[in-house]
Amino acid sequence: MFTDIHSHVIWGVDDGAEEKEETVRMLQEAVTDGIGTIICTPHMTPGVYEFPQAVFEEHFREAEDFIRENAMPLRLFSGAEVLYTEQTPRLLREGRIPTLGASQYVLVEFSPTDSLSHIQDALQKVSGTGYLPVIAHMERYPAIGKIDQVRELKSRFRTMVQINARSLIRKQPFFRRRFFDSLFQEGLVDYIATDTHAFAGRGTCMTEGMQALRSKYGENIAQAIERKLDFFSFPDA
Ligand SMILES: [Fe+2]
Repeated sequence: MFTDIHSHVIWGVDDGAEEKEETVRMLQEAVTDGIGTIICTPHMTPGVYEFPQAVFEEHFREAEDFIRENAMPLRLFSGAEVLYTEQTPRLLREGRIPTLGASQYVLVEFSPTDSLSHIQDALQKVSGTGYLPVIAHMERYPAIGKIDQVRELKSRFRTMVQINARSLIRKQPFFRRRFFDSLFQEGLVDYIATDTHAFAGRGTCMTEGMQALRSKYGENIAQAIERKLDFFSFPDA
């Protein structure tokens, strides 16, 4: 069973599910897709937009109740997809930003227009708090396009790399294809996740993504990623 470390399944808190019915449908789809654990990661912009924490907690509990009442083979953990802001390191230190399932890992998102130096500076600051940054859907940032850059981010700032399962199914733009292939072939990708939203075209596709991974890059690489997706075997969690 897969662990999905990036999901907008909880309704009413971001651009993910809008209504409880959508959450319920997404939970059912996750089970069908082979997912046994979801870390719920609503968008959060620390110090800029106030996150509706009370609403999130209430809806999270209701989602857990639904899972229990229907005996679904699924467990939920809380987290956040944190759009990096200047206030992020301080709020992380103060324990005011949720990490992935209360582990040392924090899912960090950047703007597609951010420069490499901004991303490096941000990762250094997050890493300096003692938490370990996981870059959300790293394939989306034009500033990161060379394998050496990824190696450096990983070695200097203890960064983990998350790629969306959908990106394995969709054809990458020609100029990105070699970079994308090298990321996997060199073992630089740590996690595949759905980043699922309720709307069309952003559904869950973990099984399909893992099948594509297996057929493109082979059994060894697929197994290495599956092992890491057993969330609680994270080395430092
Ligand atoms: Fe996301």
